[in-house]
Amino acid sequence: MEFLTNEKLVIVGAGGMIGSNMVQSALMLGLTPNICLYDIFEPGVHGVFDEIQQCAFPGANVTYTVDAKEAFTGAKYIISSGGAPRKEGMTREDLLKGNCKIAAEFGDNIKKYCPEVEHVVVIFNPADVTALTALIHSGLKPNQLTSLAALDSTRLQQALALEFGVQQDKVTGAHTYGGHGEQMAVFASQVKVDGKPLSEMGLSNERWEEIKHHTVQGGSNIIKLRGRSSFQSPAYNAVKMIEAAMGGEKFTLPAGCYVNDDKLGFKNVMMAMPTTIDATGVHFVEPKGTADELASLKASYEHLCKMRDEIVGLGIVPPVNQWKEMNPNL
Ligand SMILES: NC(=O)c1ccc[n+]([C@@H]2O[C@H](COP(=O)([O-])OP(=O)(O)OC[C@H]3O[C@@H](n4cnc5c(N)ncnc54)[C@H](O)[C@@H]3O)[C@@H](O)[C@H]2O)c1
Repeated sequence: MEFLTNEKLVIVGAGGMIGSNMVQSALMLGLTPNICLYDIFEPGVHGVFDEIQQCAFPGANVTYTVDAKEAFTGAKYIISSGGAPRKEGMTREDLLKGNCKIAAEFGDNIKKYCPEVEHVVVIFNPADVTALTALIHSGLKPNQLTSLAALDSTRLQQALALEFGVQQDKVTGAHTYGGHGEQMAVFASQVKVDGKPLSEMGLSNERWEEIKHHTVQGGSNIIKLRGRSSFQSPAYNAVKMIEAAMGGEKFTLPAGCYVNDDKLGFKNVMMAMPTTIDATGVHFVEPKGTADELASLKASYEHLCKMRDEIVGLGIVPPVNQWKEMNPNL
């Protein structure tokens, strides 16, 4: 079997639903044969290891461990879904304290065992804030760490494709920016349906508001339908992000990335932006939108600042003016 690279990929949380799906997707897409499965729950990760070996992927060299040092040493790429998922009735923000503590330890392990890592993708929620925590603690450069934010956009794309009865990939530019939470900013002005601007598709305001609601509640809806948090779409998209960082197909759906830009007015947060991930890491450009869309992005940014200040208050990350002491790249 042909692989994109032979570098070590570590999947953190590999015993869980997203993690186990990521191992399988990474091997099916031929990313690398060298995959280490890491989790704190031995029976879970052991079981995933057995199942993956029983798939019998040709050339695969899969290992598993519950030891952080063994997992992280020599890692060039890491994806982490290792944290608690939300249950029905919970928002992503309800997971803040517990998962940000896990993110701090995750960042510390990167700094300690694999400072030479190329790229890291953080999935566990609230992903913008866990990723920010991991970035501060890891010492990595901002373009080396991204968070999974794309599902809000693929949910918007799905809803519009269903609305107009077109193939899903005929809907382009359906993006959400800002936080990956209830306060995400949903952008309509760049959307095209089969090449035609959304504004010319005769969609009523009322219907657009319903589609927006469906997008924002997309994750909760999966919990209602399946009785658990989504796992196939996050697994696939996170693996596509790391594939891009390995030099494979570029990833152009919005990714969460570190933004500290006076001109844009967004300072010291991780948020979804118009991004591209390639072998040189993540790069963002200024979002284009109407005054209303940009105002909703600003509101989403302010919500992210509040969550950031909350983890500063909890002592999980230092105050912003001391970040450089922990990570000189910020
Ligand atoms: N960003 C997104 O778009 C998105 C989408 C869906 C789910 N999520 C989030 O992804 C996370 C994982 O979801 P899941 O459905 O796979 O959950 P899961 O409970 O099935 O799996 C999580 C795994 O992480 C492990 N784990 C917990 N703490 C750990 C630690 N400190 N180190 C290593 N492993 C640890 C657990 O043992 C478990 O095996 C949740 O936080 C969920 O909210 C994010």
